Amino acid sequence: MIPGRRKLLQAGAGLTLVACGGGLWQAAHEGAFAMGEGLAYAPWDDWRSGLNEGPLALVRAAILAASPHNTQPWRFRLEPDRIELHADSSRSLGPLDPFGRELHLGLGCALENMLRAAGALGYAVSLELPIARLDAAALPGPVATLRLGQATPVDDPLADVIAERHTNRGPYDPSRPLSPETLAAFPALVADLEGVQVVLFSDPEQRAAFGAETVAATQAIVDDAPMIAASDAWFRDSRAMLQERRDGLTLDAVGLPPLIVGLAKMLPVTSSRVAHRQWITATRDVQVPTATAFGLVVVADLYDRVLCLRAGRAWQRMQLWAATRGLAMQPLNQALERVDRERELGLQPDTARRLAGFTGDPALQPTFAFRAGYALQAANPSPRRPVEWVLL
Ligand SMILES: Cc1cc2nc3c(=O)[nH]c(=O)nc-3n(C[C@H](O)[C@H](O)[C@H](O)COP(=O)(O)O)c2cc1C
Repeated sequence: MIPGRRKLLQAGAGLTLVACGGGLWQAAHEGAFAMGEGLAYAPWDDWRSGLNEGPLALVRAAILAASPHNTQPWRFRLEPDRIELHADSSRSLGPLDPFGRELHLGLGCALENMLRAAGALGYAVSLELPIARLDAAALPGPVATLRLGQATPVDDPLADVIAERHTNRGPYDPSRPLSPETLAAFPALVADLEGVQVVLFSDPEQRAAFGAETVAATQAIVDDAPMIAASDAWFRDSRAMLQERRDGLTLDAVGLPPLIVGLAKMLPVTSSRVAHRQWITATRDVQVPTATAFGLVVVADLYDRVLCLRAGRAWQRMQLWAATRGLAMQPLNQALERVDRERELGLQPDTARRLAGFTGDPALQPTFAFRAGYALQAANPSPRRPVEWVLL
């Protein structure tokens, strides 16, 4: 996925434009001085104010979850005694996610937020996950149903930070490695998610190898016209578009220092070619080298729908836990996206073969990759569509 954007390279070269009045007007219009404001960001506050609304509060928590390219591929049917979670396949990433694997990981993220919110708000949940394969014909009906009963509310620090979790794409502090206890905490955190494991590695050799794999996959995506076009389609280049659609990737969330973001907003949108080069540069020169640990969520079958949902739950849970500890995390899924693409096109599964080397067990396949560390700058929220837009 692309953390860079079209205006970024220009920002570096465009400092002289700061003094330009037209640039300042443009910046104000683009929200340079109003990061995270407007209706597109209201759901981050609504979750707290809507805690007394019954089961709707669980949907308010769900929509704050992570999703691939911020596609928010979810819909919810709300009944007095249950909530159904449905996939919205119209929000698929196409050639970037040809089997809907990432889409279902995103649904798993929403599910984790709902389950955490349910515990904290005093709901007992019985969870139904119909078995299905992503590479077979789509099953009608929900991907998950939460049957709601009553329980004593639990004190859950992870539920408390649902609105504080954000993907951090900026530089991490390379001089602050994760402690052995922290590295061990991640696999323990997801131990109850059957069929899902988390593998972390922090030794320099493995990090270098995984970093090289990620940079190479980024280049391969840029060189693959349908893949990169599918990615570009989710960039929100203007404030108007962002506030209208309330989804997708924004300049505020790419991990640049606030001053550079402000400058970038003053500049006209530049070519995709420049944006793609910037993505490769940011991956190679910032995200990979400043990560003190990489991690993989691994499963036995990449296209088993229930495992996708559980792997998504694992990612959301790890990020929430990280938020309680002042840790930053970012997915780096370029290589995994290449695995799907090679399969779709009937190419040799070269990327899958190389990735298997990182799990220590050929039967375990990575379905999600990430970096973790201590951030040098805070992450900004990304836009969200309101619950009214996603209720069936
Ligand atoms: C399945 C999945 C894949 C993702 N892949 C990437 C990625 O490769 N690179 C990245 O920077 N972010 C990635 N993300 C993060 C999303 O872009 C992010 O969750 C979304 O933009 C919403 O922002 P938020 O997490 O800050 O709320 C991924 C998220 C999910 C759930």
